[in-house]
Amino acid sequence: MCGIVGIVGNKPVAGRLVDALKRLEYRGYDSAGVATIYDGRLERRRAEGKLFNLEKRLDAEPLSGATGIAHTRWATHGVPNEANAHPHFVDGVAVVHNGIIENFSELRDELVADGAVFNSQTDTEVIAHLVARHLREGLDPAEAMLKMLNRVTGAYAMAVMFRDDPGTIIAARSGPPLAVGFGKGETFLGSDAIALAPFTNEITYLVDGDCALITREGATIVDFSGNRVDRPRQLSQATAFMVDKGNHRHFMEKEIYEQPEVISHALSQYVDFATDRVNGMASQIDFASVSSLAISACGTAYLAGLIGKYWFERYARLPVEIDVASEFRYREMPLSPSQAALFISQSGETADTLASLRYCREQGLKIGAVVNVRESTIARESDAVYPIMAGPEIGVASTKAFTCQLAVLAALAIGAGRARDMVSVEEEKALVRHLAEMPRVMSQVLNAVQPQMESLSRELSKCKDVLYLGRGTSFPLAMEGALKLKEISYIHAEGYAAGELKHGPIALIDEEMPVIVIAPHDRFFEKTISNMQEVAARGGRIIFITDEKGAAASKLPTMATIALPHVDEIIAPMIFSLPIQLLAYHTAVFMGTDVDQPRNLAKSVTVE
Ligand code: G6P
Repeated sequence: MCGIVGIVGNKPVAGRLVDALKRLEYRGYDSAGVATIYDGRLERRRAEGKLFNLEKRLDAEPLSGATGIAHTRWATHGVPNEANAHPHFVDGVAVVHNGIIENFSELRDELVADGAVFNSQTDTEVIAHLVARHLREGLDPAEAMLKMLNRVTGAYAMAVMFRDDPGTIIAARSGPPLAVGFGKGETFLGSDAIALAPFTNEITYLVDGDCALITREGATIVDFSGNRVDRPRQLSQATAFMVDKGNHRHFMEKEIYEQPEVISHALSQYVDFATDRVNGMASQIDFASVSSLAISACGTAYLAGLIGKYWFERYARLPVEIDVASEFRYREMPLSPSQAALFISQSGETADTLASLRYCREQGLKIGAVVNVRESTIARESDAVYPIMAGPEIGVASTKAFTCQLAVLAALAIGAGRARDMVSVEEEKALVRHLAEMPRVMSQVLNAVQPQMESLSRELSKCKDVLYLGRGTSFPLAMEGALKLKEISYIHAEGYAAGELKHGPIALIDEEMPVIVIAPHDRFFEKTISNMQEVAARGGRIIFITDEKGAAASKLPTMATIALPHVDEIIAPMIFSLPIQLLAYHTAVFMGTDVDQPRNLAKSVTVE
């Protein structure tokens, strides 16, 4: 999604703004721009495509000026060309914006009737026109901004700069996140703390309904009626992490290989390895007293939630209702305060997940958040926060956040099982010991399967369609495998419950389409083998991802068999995630796609 940065500084800002945009690249974008004020003039450079196009533009025509705003745009209204790229200028007002102005066509009609001329197809331009109109009416920049904010509806974060007031940027938030950073004689603005990391780690997060007047001396924050509000300054943890690829070709590869380490960080929050028991962090919500659990999330986080559902129901006998957040928020589901709700989100900012959370809060449910970004809005609005400790995830395709979400959900389900007396202390200890094996088994698997996945990816890259099958927790994993492959290689893929094969997808089986069967040797193994047989009988090509026991037990011909170490059912989804991640990664690398920033996708989806 769009990224915003701004600096009110005491030295040139253009280069630093572009560096800050680079730290927001992971969010996904398709054009970029930067504007500064210099010598009483607003100047901008904009470019379609990646940031190096903008850098080339700036090399050819540098920008001076110590105050500036910049933006990476993920197109919503209007194609990703230079004219639609931000910043937008109207009569000495410059605007960058993330989100959607929902009443933009009504405002645009009104402004056009009033003589305004629009130079882009964006909704953003109405912001610049409204502010410019209010300045012409004689209001000062802050008053003009508040008047505009009281007209626009929707979800947005924005920054506005004024040619005639070069020492000021005014920012506002109603939805997507914004952070103000405090430096020495300079003040910064960014979509997240990572963007501001090279400048400062002293951060104030704006909350919805905040408008911040930013000068070199600091920031004054008011609500949209102009009343002063106080927001705490905090030291951001995000800045402690170095965002670089290390020795890896892509962030995604680095993040795949980080999993053994980050999973142990995740687990150590919830599990006491000395006693093999789950700890108090896992019992922030009293699962013994709740009647059922509602889970909501988007994308990969939703698939983690689906696996969590199997665990909560199996180990805690706690009924789980789960839906993608974009449906959950509008289903008008009857909920009661006896239930608890869990929201899973790497970024903690996904608009639909946040809206579902607020719906549950209105219904009086106890709210828990499984998040990677502790300072995020979803975390701040929850009663119980369950950090996954994965560190910044830059690759758009989620890998380490997924397995860390799973590790946390597994610990929570075991804790809920104990609280509800469905898991004995002995069972709890055995399950925790299995969780503790994960980092070691993950390292072993990553090293062992990499060459096989790399060579298989050459085969996969020739295919147009791929089907993934699994049962039990391997069913959501099959969907995650398909999602990973399609998002980064652009090969069409579907994940199905193996038992559903004969209810439709079996019609697609031929010698062309590989069928990836995920089947650890567990309670469902024999059933899945029967489905594999149905594929084999129709000449289908099978890639069999199983364990040593499963490989020994099956005699079916396959295109490839990947035999992982046999592990307990509770950790199988995390271990089996590794070959499916590597397969998608190597296929995408082989096909030459933009692995870390695949086309059209965004990392942090702050519009519905
Ligand atoms: C986007 C990303 C996915 C992610 C989903 C939910 O679609 O590309 O990787 O799973 O959003 O994001 P969240 O931050 O809420 O986990």
